[in-house]
Amino acid sequence: MRYFQSIVVGGGLAGLRAAIELNRNNVPVAVMTRVHPVRSHSGAAQGGVNAALGNHERGVYDSVEKHAFDTVKGSDYLADQDAVSRMCGDAPERIYEMEHWGCPFSRTPEGKIAQRPFGGAGFPRTCYAGDKTGMVMLHTLYEQVVRFEQASERNEMTVLDEWVVTHLITDGGVCRGVVALDLRTGAAEAFISEAVIFGTGGSGRVYRNSTNALISTAHGVAVPYWAGVPLKDMEFVQFHPTTLVGTNILMTEGCRGEGGYLLNKAGERFMAFYEDSKKAMEVAPRDITARNIMREIAAGRGFENSYVHLDIRHLGEQKIAKKLPGIRDICVGFLGIDPVRDPIPVQPGQHYSMGGVDTATDGSTVMKGLYAAGECACVSVHGANRLGGNSLLDTVVFGAISGKAAGEYIAGLASSGPNAKLADDALRKAKAEIDAVISLEGAESISRVREDLAALMTEKVGVFREREGLSAALDGVKALKARFSKAGFGGPRGLKYNFQVLNYYETRANLDVAEAIVAGALAREESRGSHSRTDFPFRDDGRFLKHTMAHFAPDGPRLDYEPVTLGKWEPKERKY
Ligand code: FUM
Repeated sequence: MRYFQSIVVGGGLAGLRAAIELNRNNVPVAVMTRVHPVRSHSGAAQGGVNAALGNHERGVYDSVEKHAFDTVKGSDYLADQDAVSRMCGDAPERIYEMEHWGCPFSRTPEGKIAQRPFGGAGFPRTCYAGDKTGMVMLHTLYEQVVRFEQASERNEMTVLDEWVVTHLITDGGVCRGVVALDLRTGAAEAFISEAVIFGTGGSGRVYRNSTNALISTAHGVAVPYWAGVPLKDMEFVQFHPTTLVGTNILMTEGCRGEGGYLLNKAGERFMAFYEDSKKAMEVAPRDITARNIMREIAAGRGFENSYVHLDIRHLGEQKIAKKLPGIRDICVGFLGIDPVRDPIPVQPGQHYSMGGVDTATDGSTVMKGLYAAGECACVSVHGANRLGGNSLLDTVVFGAISGKAAGEYIAGLASSGPNAKLADDALRKAKAEIDAVISLEGAESISRVREDLAALMTEKVGVFREREGLSAALDGVKALKARFSKAGFGGPRGLKYNFQVLNYYETRANLDVAEAIVAGALAREESRGSHSRTDFPFRDDGRFLKHTMAHFAPDGPRLDYEPVTLGKWEPKERKY
């Protein structure tokens, strides 16, 4: 058994920020992460992070209030307004803190943090670092973690990379640690702690066409879900309008924010054809843009029935080199095209999970001692549709908040400390399960089930949804679960770096979480934000201004609903 007063699961932006906050509050912490922190998916975020700094001449009158309103409106009124106000209110402090820690944001000519148009504000609010914002923020936080690690004489900050948490350890319904697999040796170990914070990122790899890294599976949300913590609003999945054809790598909204065009095969800026985008054109909200791209393709005006062009050639080589260098690198590296000379073939792809582990505004869950922050959590600040630039913000704001709340919770505990019996019991059970996994003899391939699920979700639970397709998807997930129950552990059974054990847990997680997505989508008979039902084309506040809660059961989720926390902004119809 190992003991750490607190454990953070996940080494991306939310996890690292939570760990820093715990340490600042004198709570020793171990960060357990599947990959080295700087390889976390947070590093793939390109376009920027929102904060009402008012640094741009077109944004001087920006305010926290405006940012909060845009976020609530963008969420199609499903976001909890108290949480939104907290996020937007904390935003400037979190950004200046990053700046003071040395984050190399792009600059205005006067040396202020530069801001670009992005995320539905209608003027520049999004702070950025070229098109590598997530990566520079991740490195900045990792430097702070290393600083704490090196300054610490009593192992107050410990990073354990290549560890994957498989189970929560609970005592009388209270979270008291985790069981985790050391990928190097394959050995499972029990870690006792007073509080655990999950910051494991989104579940994008439930889908095939996704901007998410291959590590972004549903496993991070499934571990709390399996342990009885509900998932909230899982049916709300954001499809980014512009992902590179073939790999679905993100082509940042910054391309359009900087002036890029979307063109159909006749070379027309087709966003002008649609009532909901003819004003904002290429910088219309993501849900609208993704739908209108799909409509162009369905109308036969796309290329090869599957994509449109993102054209940034007119921005010129100098601007592309300065503002979008990563986009150019990706296009050259993955498609052999140069956006200085060639239009970029793009299509919508899964990008973000608005839903996640249900948390209160301080990151706490229904399980005492368990917290979640960032994309794996649903606070909820994004509601039915997240604004571009609010995901990086969510990570640093709620990473800090949950770290502080967990520290206060620990400080208030009457007794604490290692508990060898609890650890031994949990480890024994987990090892028996892992041994059973390794011994599986069935003929079905776990990887094939995983791939078939991802294809099913992409085909049937995408940008547009309707009852028939969703019912077929639900039947399909159940059939895949049946196949999974007959799966075998093919290949070598040695445990060192044996990713088959991990593949087993991730596939099980993807199946259960996909089922929650589909069940929530089928039950929500309305269109709201990213959830676009062709058979129920309008928002229905009378029936559905509420959060979907999915409770785990082996044969499928049990759904119930909770009210949305409204505030000063009453739900209004969208006016374009
Ligand atoms: O388009 C982008 O750069 C994505 C940013 C975001 O999802 O916030």
